[in-house]
Parts: sequence; structure tokens; C-alpha cells
Amino acid sequence: MKIGIAADHGGFELKAIMVTFLEHAGYELVDFGAFKLDEKDDYPDFIIPLAEAVAFKKVERGIAICGSGVGASVAANKVAGVRAALIHDHFSAHQGIEDDDMNIICLGGRVTGFMAAEELILSFLGANFTGEERHKRRLQKVQALEKKEL
Ligand code: RB5
Repeated sequence: MKIGIAADHGGFELKAIMVTFLEHAGYELVDFGAFKLDEKDDYPDFIIPLAEAVAFKKVERGIAICGSGVGASVAANKVAGVRAALIHDHFSAHQGIEDDDMNIICLGGRVTGFMAAEELILSFLGANFTGEERHKRRLQKVQALEKKEL
């Protein structure tokens, strides 16, 4: 599975640890930066390219990290085709895929410790959308918004 990952300065350290962890676990990773710690960088500059890669299926799933995970999820969800969520618990890490077909997990580098982050990411990557009718119906209602002119 090809996975994209991105972080601003708030998620820089957690991203570095997750890159090493995921490579050792055998995942093919595409790193969208940041590649150096710059306290002045802006999360959309890294999160949006990751989100576009997910939307265009250049990578199968994404991991987006900022300080809290909030900015990352706000930015990622602006890209049509992305279903991103800020995750703090194991249940939501897999249920967000099973029911809602989440394709980007957002984490807070200043909130979630690296061992917890590893487990949340493995749970996210190990889950699959069930494809059940009721979930498809709900997703179609969300997807309809992406086609609506504002
Ligand atoms: C950056 O200082 C911080 O605001 C950002 O990483 C993130 O937490 C935004 O949601």
C-alpha cells in the first residue's frame, strides 16, 4: 500500500518518527514534507499537496500532521474527494474507514505521543470500507456537496 505523509513544524518530529516506523513496517511512503524544521512554515503548504495526491489516487491513503491536527483536517477536507478526520482513539481510527471511507488520518504532533500515533496509524491502515448500503448512501449525500456550486 502506497501511503502519503505530510506535516508542518507542529508535526515535524512526529512525522519523522512515523516515517521511520512505517518504512520498517514495509509501507511504501511518499513524503510531502516539511523536510526541515521551520517554525514559520504553514500547514496548507504540505497538507494540500498530500490531500491532492490522495484525491487523484497517486497514493492510497494519507497521514496529515500539524500541532493539534485541526488545521491539517480543515485544510485536507477542502480538497474534493478527501475524507479526513482528526483521530485520537483506536475505535475511530478503524471505524472512520469502515463506515465513512476516511482516506486521511490527521494527528496532532503536540497532542498524541508517538506510541499512540503508531497504533492509531496501524489501525487506520489495516481497516477497509465495508461498502454497506447505508454507508454508501450517507457518503453519496456528502459527495453531492462537492458538486454543488456555492
Ligand atoms: C502551528 O503553530 C500550529 O498552529 C499548527 O501546527 C496546527 O496546530 C494548526 O492546527
